[in-house]
Amino acid sequence: MNILLLGSGGRESAFAWKISQSPHCSHLFIAPGNAGTGEFGKNVPLKVTDFDAIRTFVLKNSVKMVVVGPEEPLVKGIHDYFLADPQLQQIPVIGPQKEGAQLEGSKDYSKQFMQRHSIPTAAYRSFTRDSLQEGLSYLSTHSLPIVLKADGLAGGKGVLICPTLEEAQTELAAMLNDSKFGEAGNTVVIEQFLEGIELSVFVLTDGHSYKVLPEAKDYKRVGEGDTGLNTGGMGSVSPVPFADEDFMLKVQDRIIIPTIEGLKKDEIPYKGFIFIGLMNVGGNPFVIEYNVRMGDPETESVIPRIESDLLDLLMGVAQENLIEKQLVISDKVAATVMLVAGGYPGKYLTGRGVTGMDNVRDSLVFHAGTELDNGVVKTAGGRVMAITSLQDNLFDAVQNATADAGRIYYDGRYYRHDIGTDLF
Ligand SMILES: Nc1ncnc2c1ncn2[C@@H]1O[C@H](COP(=O)(O)OP(=O)(O)O)[C@@H](O)[C@H]1O
Ligand SMILES: [Mg+2]
Repeated sequence: MNILLLGSGGRESAFAWKISQSPHCSHLFIAPGNAGTGEFGKNVPLKVTDFDAIRTFVLKNSVKMVVVGPEEPLVKGIHDYFLADPQLQQIPVIGPQKEGAQLEGSKDYSKQFMQRHSIPTAAYRSFTRDSLQEGLSYLSTHSLPIVLKADGLAGGKGVLICPTLEEAQTELAAMLNDSKFGEAGNTVVIEQFLEGIELSVFVLTDGHSYKVLPEAKDYKRVGEGDTGLNTGGMGSVSPVPFADEDFMLKVQDRIIIPTIEGLKKDEIPYKGFIFIGLMNVGGNPFVIEYNVRMGDPETESVIPRIESDLLDLLMGVAQENLIEKQLVISDKVAATVMLVAGGYPGKYLTGRGVTGMDNVRDSLVFHAGTELDNGVVKTAGGRVMAITSLQDNLFDAVQNATADAGRIYYDGRYYRHDIGTDLF
């Protein structure tokens, strides 16, 4: 069958690498893709939110499945668009419809969902411009630090952790009165601060049954030792040592099963990935947030550990027989080191020639922000490439991924040398 994969990051490179290995895959198209995805299929210059152009392409190229990488097309309703079109409605879209995508698209919606289904999460209240005064007085009774979250999609920048009451008051007013985060901040969730270690859990569901994919830990801060500004992610590892059987059973019983059952009870159709961002608080899991797609750079560590045919699993999602499919996960450990552009996550350099990919010894190279310029690979984004090594143990995975990252070069290249070392 012909597959269209939407997106252009390291996540989509890992998907393309895996899907292209499936015997069920005839032609893989990646829209728009990057300089690396062309190795696994054909890049096509389509915008992921241009549904009409995607429609034309899908019909012309006999695409039989659409796999959606990023959240934006899902929140904007690409799955609903397909279902509403008589010529497209038989073509499965991997990713939820608009309603289910609200689990990521609106933090207030997801908190209400968790509350309704008794899923452990931080205590919270939501406020709008009309209830700003109430919000300000609520803050004055709140324990410190205070977590403020813009309700809508804010590109990973809409969450503020305020150490003082004054800062929280100023920020709440800036969000609600001065539209600090635009429309995304028209509603603000104020929540309790959870102290613990974070973990990303990934679930694939056809709306009835589910499979738990390998879990991962990601490294968000730009600087070594988890310092400096937040980024889209500087690296990841899978599995995560503290996510042992006992902890994962708690995650399954308290979070995953109530989430799948909650979707059914609420009659929210859901076919796709659920990314559960968790905090391990003294051995108990609490949900920080849901995302309705895979994480980046977690996917680059998670996918290489899946031994089964991913496309076969996705066909199980589409045909609602996921329960009959097998998911085999490797015991090996994956570590991913992200190469980023000089200046990132601030203003960064682009258009720099990349060399040294052939020197990589024992890692997979997943392109992210790259493009081909007359056959030459050039940097084109903040996060340039994800280097993943799959080895028998964490130490070797980290050593190899970090050493191989150092074998690739471009002007301004930067990466963290300590990904995964906190877990040794
Ligand atoms: N209640 C909380 N307690 C402690 N830290 C939090 C809490 N909520 C969010 N965070 C921190 O802020 C980060 C971003 O929050 P999240 O809800 O994941 O929003 P987004 O990914 O949409 O920016 C989390 O990864 C976590 O580190
Ligand atoms: Mg998050």
